[in-house]
Amino acid sequence: MLFNTQHGNPQHFLLHGERGIGKSSLSYMHEFAASGQIQPWEGERFNFLTVSLLLEPSDTYISIIRKLGSTLRRSLANHNKLEARAKEVWDFLTRWEVMGVKYRELDAAVSPSELLDELAESYSTACSRISDTLAGILVLIDEADKPPATANLGALLKGLTERLTRTTPNTICFGLAGISSVIDTIRQSHESALRLFTSFDLRPLSREESVEVIRNGLNKSREKTSLKIRISPEAEQFIALYSEGYPHFIQQFAYCAFEADKDNDIDLDDVKRGAWGEHGAFQQLGTKYFQGLYFDRIGSDDYRQVLRYMSEHLDGWVSKEDIRSHAKLKPSTLNNAIKALRDRQIIVPQPGQRGMYRLPTKSFAAWIRAFTNFPGSPNLE
Ligand SMILES: Nc1ncnc2c1ncn2[C@@H]1O[C@H](COP(=O)(O)OP(=O)(O)OP(=O)(O)O)[C@@H](O)[C@H]1O
Ligand SMILES: [Mg+2]
Repeated sequence: MLFNTQHGNPQHFLLHGERGIGKSSLSYMHEFAASGQIQPWEGERFNFLTVSLLLEPSDTYISIIRKLGSTLRRSLANHNKLEARAKEVWDFLTRWEVMGVKYRELDAAVSPSELLDELAESYSTACSRISDTLAGILVLIDEADKPPATANLGALLKGLTERLTRTTPNTICFGLAGISSVIDTIRQSHESALRLFTSFDLRPLSREESVEVIRNGLNKSREKTSLKIRISPEAEQFIALYSEGYPHFIQQFAYCAFEADKDNDIDLDDVKRGAWGEHGAFQQLGTKYFQGLYFDRIGSDDYRQVLRYMSEHLDGWVSKEDIRSHAKLKPSTLNNAIKALRDRQIIVPQPGQRGMYRLPTKSFAAWIRAFTNFPGSPNLE
């Protein structure tokens, strides 16, 4: 995609997947490859200017435009090869930012499309001024799922890329990363905005890849500390099995096992202690998946029974009847458990269908499965 962009045929992409699947990490690698700091997966090194920004729940259409403008300005200012050219572009963007401020004060009187025109002009000016030194611009927008639908990210990017198509050189690639719900948000914003992007759905790692992650981590620590830390094949397999391919889980279980280890030889016991210890892997991951204090209460047998059975279906729909017959709970207990889990948005009810529920994500199901099956639990045995 960068290769095509560099030749004036920009291709934009969307990395999406569950929380902790590795979207930001992959964008980061991509940024390194684009700027020429590392060799790309194939072909020659690139030399793009990279502009990377993070979106937030408080972002609006206007604030995203401003972020796109001010991050461009910062990237230009920080790029060491652009000194000679920078002033010219800098002046331009300063003017733009000043206008942006003016617009913000006027706010209601601003025409968003005028602002977008300004932004497109900034990008295209920057692109042409740097074209003798750099191949183009890669704009990476992470946490793209965060702004509300009203920020109209899809329409914004569609408007921006369309404006840029009419300029030369058109060597700007936009890459988005976010939780898969971003697809719906973009579609809602503009029905054809999604067509701009080639989308990549990030999936869990294979068992072999998971083991490779653990080994890579240990190799890095050996390089840094010159300590020879070993890990037993059993411990590796155990971490890989219970992580179900979620990189974030692998990192957490492996890190906690590393912390629990005392003799530079990580074995199964270290993995278990790391997982269940105070501030251990389950607690860390649990706080991420259950909001706040609720995590402590998941120790309750009833809730756990329900979640455990549901997790066998990953994030697929399960009927209350089905749960009742498998979780072996009294009807009133089951009703209470379901109500509590539902109120806390830990399970999702099927719209228009009574008594059908599912877990919100596959990674959450993987967490529940590990939590309820992982040996060595202090209070589960
Ligand atoms: N391919 C990989 N190999 C090893 N570790 C990885 C890999 N991908 C991600 N990780 C690790 O997994 C963790 C989560 O990754 P990252 O933050 O990139 O995920 P994310 O999808 O952006 O998460 P979020 O949805 O929370 O933003 C990090 O600790 C990261 O280092
Ligand atoms: Mg991320």
